Amino acid sequence: MNEAGPARNRVRRQPPTPTPELSLPDVPVAKIPASIGIIMDGNGRWAKRLGWERIKGHTAGIDAVRETSRECAKLGVKELTLYAFSVENWKRPRPEVEYLMGLLRRFAVDEREEIEKNAIRFTTIGRVDELPRETLVELRETERLSADHDGMVLRLALNYGGRSEFADAAKRIAREVAAGTLRPDDIDESAVQQRLYDPAMRDVDLVIRTAGEMRISNFLLWQISYAEIFVTDALWPEFRKPHLHAAIRAFATRERRFGGLVSQ
Ligand code: FPP
Repeated sequence: MNEAGPARNRVRRQPPTPTPELSLPDVPVAKIPASIGIIMDGNGRWAKRLGWERIKGHTAGIDAVRETSRECAKLGVKELTLYAFSVENWKRPRPEVEYLMGLLRRFAVDEREEIEKNAIRFTTIGRVDELPRETLVELRETERLSADHDGMVLRLALNYGGRSEFADAAKRIAREVAAGTLRPDDIDESAVQQRLYDPAMRDVDLVIRTAGEMRISNFLLWQISYAEIFVTDALWPEFRKPHLHAAIRAFATRERRFGGLVSQ
């Protein structure tokens, strides 16, 4: 079969209409964050609490990923970015890293139906090409299959680090300057943004971190410049709709000034 065939013939998927007024009636639609980033933490602690090995926590974390992305789409969130594997995570024991890579591969395959049904656009950021080939192939395929979906963007940060993202952008800029295609005087914020992993990525409005830690841990340093932060004690495998709703309710009460004065 011609590889480009199915994509070419596919009917353009329309997303189901979001229904925030049904899911979260007490929050005005205008106060729903357009872009949410989540630092999913506490998988190991969750498993340990139950006397299980850490990796069981990662498997259980998949259910939280599913419920959260489904609910975000229902609420009309435009982009959900999940920190699934950091550049620092390679330091973990090899069996755990291999397990996570296997989980990611299976996730990329198993979620295709749900992604198709809800017209979600699946994408990744990070030094993704350095992931094991079997994982990379399935991730790229899911990205390809969902590339023209019009619904929420579900973005996995994989082999991702905010500092690496800056360094990679700086390298691209330096190469373009050396090649004479970019003038140093033209390097402004927009020029940097254009060289990030996903130049079209919106600024994040709300960062959620689970497991009670008050850290950013090298997550989306550029894109969270003006984000509101919400930390919950829930461990990631426990994170469900009510936790997401609590984070959005808190966000809706925040006064965002972006360095200016309070609007009258
Ligand atoms: C942090 O918990 C979690 C991770 C490093 C991996 C995140 C992965 C998942 C939620 C599952 C896979 C996700 C997808 C999208 C396929 P931790 O292990 O650091 O927990 P701890 O701090 O309690 O040890």
